[in-house]
Amino acid sequence: MRQIQVGLAQRAYPIFITAGLLHEVGRDLKERAVGKRYIVIADDRVAALYGEALLASLHGSGLDAQLLEFPNGEGSKHLATVTDLARRLAQLNVDRKDALIALGGGVTGDITGFLAAIYMRGIPFVQVPTTLLAQVDSSVGGKTGVDIPEGKNLVGSFYQPQAVFIDSTVLHSLPDAELLNGLAEVIKYGVIYDRDFFDFLARNRVAILERDLSVIEEVIASCCTIKAKVVEADEREADLRRILNFGHTIGHAVEAASDFTLAHGSAVAIGMVAVSEIAVAKGLFAAEEADRLRELIDAYGLPVAIPAGLDRQRMKEYLKTDKKSVGGRPFYVLPTSIGTVTISDDVAEELVDRVFAG
Ligand SMILES: NC(=O)c1ccc[n+]([C@@H]2O[C@H](COP(=O)([O-])OP(=O)(O)OC[C@H]3O[C@@H](n4cnc5c(N)ncnc54)[C@H](O)[C@@H]3O)[C@@H](O)[C@H]2O)c1
Repeated sequence: MRQIQVGLAQRAYPIFITAGLLHEVGRDLKERAVGKRYIVIADDRVAALYGEALLASLHGSGLDAQLLEFPNGEGSKHLATVTDLARRLAQLNVDRKDALIALGGGVTGDITGFLAAIYMRGIPFVQVPTTLLAQVDSSVGGKTGVDIPEGKNLVGSFYQPQAVFIDSTVLHSLPDAELLNGLAEVIKYGVIYDRDFFDFLARNRVAILERDLSVIEEVIASCCTIKAKVVEADEREADLRRILNFGHTIGHAVEAASDFTLAHGSAVAIGMVAVSEIAVAKGLFAAEEADRLRELIDAYGLPVAIPAGLDRQRMKEYLKTDKKSVGGRPFYVLPTSIGTVTISDDVAEELVDRVFAG
């Protein structure tokens, strides 16, 4: 079993990674005594796949536990789902001594974490992430929240889990498209923080795409280690944590201009290539390094070019109104080498136009 600690003083917590861990969660929570009673929250698809196994593990350790479901998909990540779940908790007389368990992808983790943060002004929760994206990214770091019609993740809070339990075997049932969504974030970590990890991803591409669990566990552990370090240095995204947005500034614009028909991972992949071209044009990043990045993204089966049909003007407008832009100036995470980045809002509009033109 691999264990990584997120060192946040009194909010510190462990991340456990091993095959078959889903069946051990009960035993660990019995020892850890996070809650008197446990409410597992899962979307309907994950509940059908893994709900029973997790409940069996909890009940097998003598813990009081039950499962609440909501419909799967980003469309559920809104306040009405939180209200509905909060009412169901209240009807079950869930109190501050009880705990929530987020079983699922990033949507479930974000909803459950937010619910835990606000129900009775805060109750404990743990994460059991089941998508690669959730295992390498969203389950760690304490960002929780939901979407409103005006934008994604606009309502939320920073609220850390008590522990994260990652079982790699659940990835076997994950659709290929969801695996790719996670892999875009995985490549991101190599570029922003760790050249050796980037090389590892290049060397082990076939094993990773074939879901060789021993290799995938190493990937998950590397990503969680990097995310933990970044979050430890900057829990509330005042500065360093912004590097995790590498590829996301343009990625979000691409995603929005496609009316969200393009998968998030594809949009991030396109965004990483576009921003690396900006960095090359600014003389910050070597052209050969940019080529290596584009080739790796392409080799993983992710797109590297902005689709021809996307409205460039709409993308530019989105960049200005993005929630992370300040005074209409978006910030960009620009690579300076594979393994290091810098943050800048000093990118001329003409340069963005040139990269958007392809
Ligand atoms: N909090 C953060 O730091 C953070 C970081 C990145 C992304 N996010 C959020 O994460 C969300 C995306 O997360 P996601 O990509 O995991 O989406 P998701 O939770 O919607 O899961 C994708 C789909 O996969 C299904 N699924 C989950 N696990 C499965 C498994 N093991 N086998 C088969 N099917 C499975 C789900 O039912 C769902 O239909 C977005 O809302 C995004 O904003 C949050």
